[in-house]
Amino acid sequence: MQGPAPRETPDLAALFDAAAAARGRAHAPYSRFAVGAALRDEAGAIHAGCNVENAAYPVGTCAEAGAIAAMILAGGRRIREILVLGGGGLVTPCGACRQRIREFAGPDTPVHAAGPDGMARSFTLEELLPFAFGPETLGV
Ligand code: THU
Repeated sequence: MQGPAPRETPDLAALFDAAAAARGRAHAPYSRFAVGAALRDEAGAIHAGCNVENAAYPVGTCAEAGAIAAMILAGGRRIREILVLGGGGLVTPCGACRQRIREFAGPDTPVHAAGPDGMARSFTLEELLPFAFGPETLGV
């Protein structure tokens, strides 16, 4: 843990703790902006990820991408809620990650933005990515 957990609910505190632990392992020597993400899947399991930067800058990956890859590897297929933890201020998923989340989540899925001191703000995915392109668009 890198800071006080959010007080809202035990479920949120568990997500926060997982994201904080993941953030502690971020590889961010270029931006020096460590990010952790943690999500809860349809079975209740938590999966986490951190950003992994690269000397060839565009090759770096976001924390959310790592958490989603961990979920898929573990057999999860739906995101019930996701929390992103940055260094302070309001750190929300980047545009590409909103689309990554959309693949496995619905419009009402909670997306929590947190800083080291706790929760900053919660959104629905639809608030962050309205009129989204998704699997249904392709009939899947
Ligand atoms: N980053 C994430 O990991 N998730 C986001 O949603 C925002 C940005 C990372 C990418 C890069 O390693 C660093 O933060 C600065 O952009």
